[in-house]
Amino acid sequence: MSGRNRQAGIIGPYGGDLVNLLAPAEDREALHAYADRLPSLQLPSRAVCDLELLATGGFSPLDRFMGREDHERAVSEMRLSSGHLSPIPVTLPVDAGDVRLDADIALRDAKNDLLAVMTVEEAYEWDKREVALKVFGTTDERHPMVAEMDQWKPVNISGRLRVIDLPEHFDFRELRLTPSACRDRLQQMGAGNVVAFQTRNPLHRVHEELTKRAAAATDGVLLLHPVVGMTKLGDVDHYTRVRTYQVMAEKYYEASGILLALLPLAMRMGGPREALWHAVIRRNHGANHLIVGRDHAGPGRDSSNRPFYDPYGAQELVEQHRDELGVRAVPFGELVYLPDEDAYAESSRVAPGSAAWSISGTQVRERYLDRGVKLPDWYTRPEVAEILAESYPPRHRQGVCIWFTGLSGAGKSTTAEVLTVLLMERGRQVTVLDGDVVRTHLSKGLGFTKPDRDANILRIGFVASEIARAGGAVVCAAVSPYTATRDAVRDMIGADRFVEVFVNTPLDVCEKRDAKGMYAKARRGEIRNFTGIDDPYEPPPSPDLELETIMCSPEANARAIVAELERRGFVRPAGAAAP
Ligand code: ADX
Ligand code: MG
Repeated sequence: MSGRNRQAGIIGPYGGDLVNLLAPAEDREALHAYADRLPSLQLPSRAVCDLELLATGGFSPLDRFMGREDHERAVSEMRLSSGHLSPIPVTLPVDAGDVRLDADIALRDAKNDLLAVMTVEEAYEWDKREVALKVFGTTDERHPMVAEMDQWKPVNISGRLRVIDLPEHFDFRELRLTPSACRDRLQQMGAGNVVAFQTRNPLHRVHEELTKRAAAATDGVLLLHPVVGMTKLGDVDHYTRVRTYQVMAEKYYEASGILLALLPLAMRMGGPREALWHAVIRRNHGANHLIVGRDHAGPGRDSSNRPFYDPYGAQELVEQHRDELGVRAVPFGELVYLPDEDAYAESSRVAPGSAAWSISGTQVRERYLDRGVKLPDWYTRPEVAEILAESYPPRHRQGVCIWFTGLSGAGKSTTAEVLTVLLMERGRQVTVLDGDVVRTHLSKGLGFTKPDRDANILRIGFVASEIARAGGAVVCAAVSPYTATRDAVRDMIGADRFVEVFVNTPLDVCEKRDAKGMYAKARRGEIRNFTGIDDPYEPPPSPDLELETIMCSPEANARAIVAELERRGFVRPAGAAAP
């Protein structure tokens, strides 16, 4: 149990003992060989993040996934059994049958790479509801952790960890500083005070303002310490964010006053408790101040549309524990832009009636990026605007799938062909996946039984989803007779970029046209499982578009689809200039 009860109660920057769970270099080879003979446990990505911070001392003095006593006290009193502040449980939940007590297991990541050997000293059941209520203050499923914990296993395990390899990161290697590396760098910079900024968002002008004001007020070095482990679903990805931090640090801050380091933390969106946790983690990285603004680590609103936490509760909680933490909160109210003065101010200090501007994260997406509108200079630096515009192209350059469904001979391929030309005219690159063509290569050998039909559609769906993900427009034309399978494809691609087009030509009309002579063959019994004859067609219950092909020409129908795509932003209005 070495290290676990060691005192980390330092005041002032870059001090205090740090846990280090990394096995000595000379032991690693032997441990590797040993671990390969042990039973393995594959960790979910959250536990991999937690393990990395345990290993490098980011959670010091915690040196293991919590055992029963630590867990109980962390949940109810925000402390370890040793008394140290520890407001967020760090646990490793498994199924009871997964482990044996008093035995070693190998901990591996999703790719099965070895991370650590754990000696299972404890296994105990935990209560999801209690953790939800006491730690996150709610059982509302809108809270991302409450929803996630529903899927967690029932038994927490704990015990000594020998870490063999830290999780590998190939991106931004030079910015990934362990707590001790971070302290060293701060010390080299000669920092008196260190003020940390936690963030999971791109760095905009208000954040620049917060950080510069905080550094000035504390006469400190800024530790720009963004989270790159796990944040909230829908956040801007960390690759894009880190590029904004790099350009900001380079161009808009004095090099001697800023250190950019990436934190592989898995956030819990736990509001005030999480802010306190952030303070512990930043203390371990060498900071003695933490910026805590409005709604720090807030998860948004609950199912009654109320905020989960008091927006200033985080500031209070950190300040209450400042002496014990060795970290002070640098509090800010909500910062807004005052166009009349071309300045930023806390909203509480804005005179009633005078203009105060801000743009929410959702608005950034919907009003600017999706429409290809440049973010204004008062909101963000032009270099940041450009990085965001590059990563989040306007809707008309995002992926989209137009999925035709209907009987054989309904007119899917013909309409798809016209649509393809019209989309190219509007500047889109188009891939066509036509059922008959696909069956000559991608789905060669598949027949028309239900499993074969499903496999065919899911293959088309998979390829379509990859194309759409890469920003392409993809037109799929296959009978796709089963609703459940079409829905599976919609899920693969994402409902927001899936346009289901039902080519609703009645069976008797298709049969009369019989362009390929298939209906005649099916009626004569020469082919089996023919849709509409001896295999069912399930019309889509709520297609995005329904086409009529007796009165409407393929061209008229294709133009109707283009109009729908234009309405949804996936094609630019005709004649619009390229942005
Ligand atoms: S968080 O989940 O990491 O807290 P975010 O990256 O948005 O989210 O915020 C980082 C820190 O900046 C938090 O302390 C937050 O309160 C603060 N902050 C963000 N935007 C503002 C703002 N407009 N005014 C005041 N504080 C802000
Ligand atoms: Mg066809």
